[in-house]
Amino acid sequence: MSTPSQRANPSSPRPRVLITAGPTHEAIDAIRFIGNRSSGRLGCALADECARRGLVTTLLLGPCCSEPSEPAARVERFTSCADLQLLLRTHAHASDIIIMAAAVADFRPAAATPGTALTKIHRTAAGLTLQLEPTPDLLAGIAASRVATQLLVGFALEPADRLIESARAKLIRKGVDVIVANPLETMENADINATLLWADGASISPGAMCKSDFASWLIDAATRTWRDARATRTP
Ligand code: CTP
Repeated sequence: MSTPSQRANPSSPRPRVLITAGPTHEAIDAIRFIGNRSSGRLGCALADECARRGLVTTLLLGPCCSEPSEPAARVERFTSCADLQLLLRTHAHASDIIIMAAAVADFRPAAATPGTALTKIHRTAAGLTLQLEPTPDLLAGIAASRVATQLLVGFALEPADRLIESARAKLIRKGVDVIVANPLETMENADINATLLWADGASISPGAMCKSDFASWLIDAATRTWRDARATRTP
C-alpha cells in the first residue's frame, strides 16, 4: 500500500533512477579477491522503493546476497570496479537521478602483480606481497561527464567523530549534488542514522531508522531536489 508521498502525481515529472549497490570484488587470482562487508541491503531497498512508485528503476548490484523484491526493478550484476564502470557507461546517460550506494573498492591488485591472471597463487615460505593500484573514482567520473539535468547522489562512510566535515569535503571533491553521510557502523547494521548534505550547504538528519524507511525518505528527498532543480531551469 502506498503512502500519500509515494502516490504518483500525474502532473509531476517522473525521474528515471539508476542505483548502484553492494561491494566490489577485486581479483587477486582465480579464486581470491579483495572485498568489503557491504550487504547491498540499502541499495535494494532504494530500488524497491523506486519501483513501487512506478519509476523506471535500474539497480547495478555487486556480489552480495541481497536482491530487490520488486520485479519491476531491472537488475544488472557486476563483480569488480571495472565491471561497474562499464555498466555505468551504458546506463548513466539514460538516468535522471543516479544514486551511488555501492561500496566500490579504492584499491585493486595491480595488473603487474604476479598471479592476477586466471590461475591460483600457491603458498610459498617467502610469503606474498600484493601490489595495489587505486581504482578509478566512478562517482567523480560521472560528476565530470553528466549533463546539468541529472541529480547525482553519493555516499560517504566516515568515522562518526568527523562524519559531517569529511562528508562535506567529499561532496565538494567529487562534485556531487547530494551526499549521504553515514558513520562506519552502518555497513553491517539493520538501521541507518544518516545525514543528507546538499551542495548548497543545506543538511538534514532524519534520525535513526530501518533501511527500508530510510530508502523511502531518501527517494522523497532526491525526487524533490531533482524536481525543484528542473522547475528552476524550465522557463
Ligand atoms: N566511489 C566510486 N568509485 C570508487 C570509490 C568510491 O564511485 N572507486 C563512490 C562510492 O560509491 C560512494 C562515494 O564514492 O558513493 C564515496 O565512497 P567512499 O569509499 O566513502 O569514498 P572514497 O572515494 O573511497 O574516499 P576515501 O577513501 O578518502 O574515504
